[in-house]
Amino acid sequence: MTGTATILRGDARSLPLPDASVDLVCTSPPYWGLRDYRDGGESMAGQIGNEPTPWEYVDNLIDCTREWLRVLKPTGSLFVNIADAYANTATPEREGSSDGATSRAARPGRRTSAGTGIRPKSLYGLPWRYALRCIDELGLILRRDQIWHKISALPESVKDRSATRHEYLFHFVTQERYYAAVDLIRQPSGADHHRNVAPKVTHVPGQPAVLFDRSLHHPLGRLPGSVWAIAGEPLVVPDHIAHARCCAGTAMPGCTDELDHHAAFPTELPRRIVAGWSPSGICTGCGEGRRPVADRALTTDRGGRKANVRGNFREGVPVYEDSTSLGRERVVSITGYVCACPEPSAPTRPAIILDPFGGTGTTALVAKALGRHGISVDRSADYCRLAQWRTTDPDQLAKAMRVEKPPKQLDGQGSIFDELGISA
Ligand SMILES: C[S@@+](CC[C@H](N)C(=O)[O-])C[C@H]1O[C@@H](n2cnc3c(N)ncnc32)[C@H](O)[C@@H]1O
Ligand SMILES: [Zn+2]
Ligand SMILES: [Zn+2]
Repeated sequence: MTGTATILRGDARSLPLPDASVDLVCTSPPYWGLRDYRDGGESMAGQIGNEPTPWEYVDNLIDCTREWLRVLKPTGSLFVNIADAYANTATPEREGSSDGATSRAARPGRRTSAGTGIRPKSLYGLPWRYALRCIDELGLILRRDQIWHKISALPESVKDRSATRHEYLFHFVTQERYYAAVDLIRQPSGADHHRNVAPKVTHVPGQPAVLFDRSLHHPLGRLPGSVWAIAGEPLVVPDHIAHARCCAGTAMPGCTDELDHHAAFPTELPRRIVAGWSPSGICTGCGEGRRPVADRALTTDRGGRKANVRGNFREGVPVYEDSTSLGRERVVSITGYVCACPEPSAPTRPAIILDPFGGTGTTALVAKALGRHGISVDRSADYCRLAQWRTTDPDQLAKAMRVEKPPKQLDGQGSIFDELGISA
């Protein structure tokens, strides 16, 4: 089942949402001093990222975060992707931006480190300045300083330091017990170094995962690590959207005024976050997010063809049925979902995923692809239009769902997703 997406034009500092209504916030603020985001073809008023000093930038981000915490449920998580910048007294130094893109919209000469007290060529340390204030002033628990390793970062021209290939992705929570389902985003274990260990480990929910040596690995795969290597995904915006304002939807020869966006998330980034830290459904009976449960069972049949022997545990210790068989395997699979209800039979409603700097709508698109309700907020009407297209375009949705691109629809033909029994 796909979910839904709503695109709202609004400010990340004052969201049109009720208190404690959102299950997960996943967002990426603008870099400081790099771009000029547009609205109606003009520099966007009230945008974050073009403050005169980095300190005002962090002040604004703290104000934003306070507002996100207002709308976040106590059991929710907040993921903030944030990049650093280098101090420079003369010209703007792009070297802090790991996407390396020189945007048409960037404004050379606008931001310098004069008066900041930070020496030229030094990193400002913006991600950590922000994170520490979240801990100290907002009382947040910083659960993880996740590193996004940008494997397709563009080359840089610097000659006296290493190239920037990472950004921070801070995971904050407000209380010690919060919703997490990391079992759903475990990764296949690498080559197993034990003899007789052959079966591939799978981590597909609902599918049994098979492993021989129960001491070394979790049968559903490895816990995702603190470094995520994720390549960028170029976003090709069709002319009817890119040239909607400048050329009434049909690109005129030589037009260079089209709408584009250089800072979209790759879909894999929000995909892991949404799958791992938001429930696939909220119970309408008790209001809790349903949590996956992993069931353990043994099989004496290495191929898993017939002999799944369930429930063979004595005081928590697995009991093997037949030690002379080909192999002794522990099988673990996600078998169901639980909440506070003794019998989780009440219907569920989708979890709500918010991106308050929604841009092209990647987070909302992924939330929709994973059966959640995505809300993408951006101050720019132009980017809201882009996000509106993206979250309703069947090709974009197919990409986010990791399914084949649907064939082109003929007039009057139903949606390909309808035929699959899912609504797009
Ligand atoms: C780094 S981009 C986010 C890109 C997004 N993650 C995506 O995948 O497309 C930052 C976005 O913040 C928006 N923005 C800047 N200031 C804002 C504000 N005060 N309130 C809401 N959105 C703002 C910009 O228009 C821009 O689209
Ligand atoms: Zn145009
Ligand atoms: Zn319940």
